[in-house]
Amino acid sequence: MQAKNTFSPSRKYPILIIGAGGIVADAHLPAYKLGDFKVWGICDKVKKYASDLASTYQIENVFDNAADAIAAAPQDVIYDIALPASISAQILTLLPDGAHVLIQKPMGESLQQAEEILRICRDKKLYAAINCQMRFAPYVLAARQLIDQDAIGEITDMEIRLNIHTPWELFPFLEGLPRLELNYHSVHHIDLIRSFLGNPHGVYARTVPNPKQPKLASTDSTIIMDYDDPVRATVTARHSHYFGSKHHESYIKWEGTKGAIKAQVGLLMNYPEGGKDYLEICRLDEQGRPGEWENIPFEGSWFPHAFMDIMGSLMQHKEGSLEVLPTSVEDVIYTMACVEAGYKSNEKRGETLPVTI
Ligand SMILES: NC(=O)c1ccc[n+]([C@@H]2O[C@H](COP(=O)([O-])OP(=O)(O)OC[C@H]3O[C@@H](n4cnc5c(N)ncnc54)[C@H](O)[C@@H]3O)[C@@H](O)[C@H]2O)c1
Repeated sequence: MQAKNTFSPSRKYPILIIGAGGIVADAHLPAYKLGDFKVWGICDKVKKYASDLASTYQIENVFDNAADAIAAAPQDVIYDIALPASISAQILTLLPDGAHVLIQKPMGESLQQAEEILRICRDKKLYAAINCQMRFAPYVLAARQLIDQDAIGEITDMEIRLNIHTPWELFPFLEGLPRLELNYHSVHHIDLIRSFLGNPHGVYARTVPNPKQPKLASTDSTIIMDYDDPVRATVTARHSHYFGSKHHESYIKWEGTKGAIKAQVGLLMNYPEGGKDYLEICRLDEQGRPGEWENIPFEGSWFPHAFMDIMGSLMQHKEGSLEVLPTSVEDVIYTMACVEAGYKSNEKRGETLPVTI
């Protein structure tokens, strides 16, 4: 299928990738190939990881440390950091002032680390975006276009629901971290909800570990993002449904005053190969009666197409054809504030029951 991207830069700048792990193999490099973007160099502290990907994707320059790679890179390169989030800040300090850089989500492993990343980006006047590319999944772009055209009226409900089995073993760096699900996964969902509804007043959350995953922090979450009445915004992320695929669910649903849209996020039902996506709309007629759900066509999928778009946004910004980076650190800091609020809410637990009734 022919890829259709939203951000189509006229100039394609060279890319230096720092970190040659799973996500670079599964999404960054396939996306850049699809977008015909030139990867100038790749770096990993385990050089073999970088050289293996370099030979698959014909990348000329391979490094085993970020400082050497950054020193050798061409002046107009776009830096593409894909490391465990706690390392991002230290790599940013090595970049030349005024550079363009894409940083893998999450923006640090806490709000404190996010603020440190923001401070470095401001001090060095970096043009920095966080790789919150779920915003650019093709079905999300199509849904946003329909919503912007008033196809479902005012949004009254946004729901993201997962009931899946996530292969956490693909991410060994998560073992032993104090925070997992909100920070490393639902950060995408929280960011997506913010991108449609803006910043919430606050966040309620409960996030729990799973006994089958003793080396991992909490893996399963329920999140309520608190907006003014009548808007409801929820994320239910159950990653520990170990009972076969029959009842797997992974969707985003928007309900509005005039209709509703539902997208199935196939990727998460069969990560990272991906399962079936779909996008459907139901419109109310003038009497408020629902019509049939209609299929909305779109091209591509979250992996890898959204990764092509987010890099395209950096290139367009660098060439001057895009004024504001949609997922700039200045914006995504609020996603991290929501994540932090979620963890605080989790610690506080729910309102206690009255002692006597
Ligand atoms: N949809 C998404 O946006 C998505 C999906 C998966 C992962 N991610 C993010 O991508 C990042 C990396 O995840 P991954 O699954 O590829 O992890 P990974 O462990 O497979 O890869 C990380 C790589 O970084 C290398 N590395 C670590 N420290 C380094 C350093 N100082 N210098 C150079 N290389 C170093 C490691 O050797 C490893 O190869 C994480 O922050 C994760 O949140 C995003």
